[in-house]
Amino acid sequence: MRFFLIYSLLLSFLQAKTSYEIGKDLYKQKGCYSCHGHKAEGMHAYPALANRAKGYMTYKLKRLRSKISDNQQQEMMIAYAVDLSDEDIDNLTTFFSEYVDEESAERYDDSFRLEGDGGS
Ligand code: HEC
Repeated sequence: MRFFLIYSLLLSFLQAKTSYEIGKDLYKQKGCYSCHGHKAEGMHAYPALANRAKGYMTYKLKRLRSKISDNQQQEMMIAYAVDLSDEDIDNLTTFFSEYVDEESAERYDDSFRLEGDGGS
């Protein structure tokens, strides 16, 4: 176990991926984009995640991981949260909070959303 830990630490050091990059990979691997959009911009009833506060995103993911939802709409999200580790959540939320749209290299401005949808 300890050897495995050292080995995986070494491996991650050699690959030297940032938390942002790991989060970005997870977002793709776990299919989060299919609901939340390729740019984490959200669609329909699925909230935008790009450039949202890390603390709040962490709180929500841990809550959903504990199978706590506030309404029926959120229940579908539980299946995607249950097997996230603390580390996954840390990387994903770094990716969200620091998100940069590589195509336009602009930060997504979410100020309008605060007025618009009543803050889901
Ligand atoms: C099948 C569609 C679907 C997929 C796939 C999905 N989500 Fe969600 N997600 C939702 C829904 C629905 C909500 C709850 C929306 C609401 O609160 O009304 C949600 C909520 C969230 C929230 C809380 C947002 C907020 O404003 O409270 C986060 C964070 C989140 N998802 C992250 C993820 C991550 C990370 C993945 C991939 C591991 C993922 N989602 C995959 C549908 C999905």
